[in-house]
Amino acid sequence: MNKKITVLPGDGIGPEIVNEAIKVLNKVADKYGHSFDYKYVDIGGCSIDKFGVPITDEGMEKCKNSDSVLLGAVGGPKWDNVDPSVRPEKALLAVRKELGLFANLRPTKLFPQLADASPLKQEIVGGGIDLLIVRELTGGVYFGSRKTEEVNGEMVATDIMPYSESEIERIGRVGFETAMKRGKKLASVDKANVLDTSRLWRKTMHKLSEEYPEVEYSDILVDNTAMQLIKNPTQFDVLVTENMFGDILSDEASMLTGSIGMMPSASLSSGTLGMYEPIHGSAPDIAGMNIANPLGTILSAAMMLRYSFDMSAEADAIEAAVNKVLDDGYRTGDIMQDGCNKVTCSEMGDLVAERI
Ligand code: IPM
Ligand code: MG
Repeated sequence: MNKKITVLPGDGIGPEIVNEAIKVLNKVADKYGHSFDYKYVDIGGCSIDKFGVPITDEGMEKCKNSDSVLLGAVGGPKWDNVDPSVRPEKALLAVRKELGLFANLRPTKLFPQLADASPLKQEIVGGGIDLLIVRELTGGVYFGSRKTEEVNGEMVATDIMPYSESEIERIGRVGFETAMKRGKKLASVDKANVLDTSRLWRKTMHKLSEEYPEVEYSDILVDNTAMQLIKNPTQFDVLVTENMFGDILSDEASMLTGSIGMMPSASLSSGTLGMYEPIHGSAPDIAGMNIANPLGTILSAAMMLRYSFDMSAEADAIEAAVNKVLDDGYRTGDIMQDGCNKVTCSEMGDLVAERI
């Protein structure tokens, strides 16, 4: 198969980790007889520096006209004080919105080899963590209107968090469908004791749950979810939630896996076009040092093969190669353990590619 991939390396460690994922994708292409055609587009701070905007219209068109998008990371302190209308993160949100990427899948899987790397006790994570966060990605407070204005002599800022029934139903369905393919357990996370959006969320989810009698459904408040993720994470299979709760809970959940550097994500539309990126940020403090962990990005490339290209054997091959590298005792600094071999970002990419 021939596939067009738009590559958005972005800022900080973005270019380094994306290179490693492409190394692995090229190995997959060789081995399985595919051809991947990459088009590079600047996004985030690097685009602001070159073009004055975090992504150009032309770049956005390239994303829309590809079979999938691979992203590194955007942002950094250098652009913290630019006008909010052109912040690096704006581009990421614009791509999500313009490509209709409403469903963000964030699998949280602890590789047993890394159980020691998790800050949680063995008795909590040792049994194996395998949960999936389904985050709504194109609605809520990220996309509602916002303003900062002077009222009675002081500044007042407002961010609106809107959700429509159809938006809730659309992501809710992804939650139920993914639960059906996994452990058939779905927890819907909300703040229905306070927010109207959450009350509508809960009502819509309950209605939907009638269509999925096989799924063991429950509602859980977001604050309690934050606690349960640390106290008893193995109780969860699939969690579905709105945009900001999903952002926060997925960073928290990443720590169950030992390092945020391990976590991939897929942002899916109603078609096959998707965007794939690690959930971590641009880590400007270690940018250019060749020490970042590329595994989250490599595992994101595996999700690309699985979800956008329907290449499940190839995706399995990448996941197995990552597993083998960890078995063989290779670690980047963030997941380093006694008795293991510490490797650089590019060495890690080589090691995974060799094992495809
Ligand atoms: C994420 C990131 C983004 C988000 C930022 C960079 C805008 O934290 O993908 O989780 O909040 O969605
Ligand atoms: Mg985040």
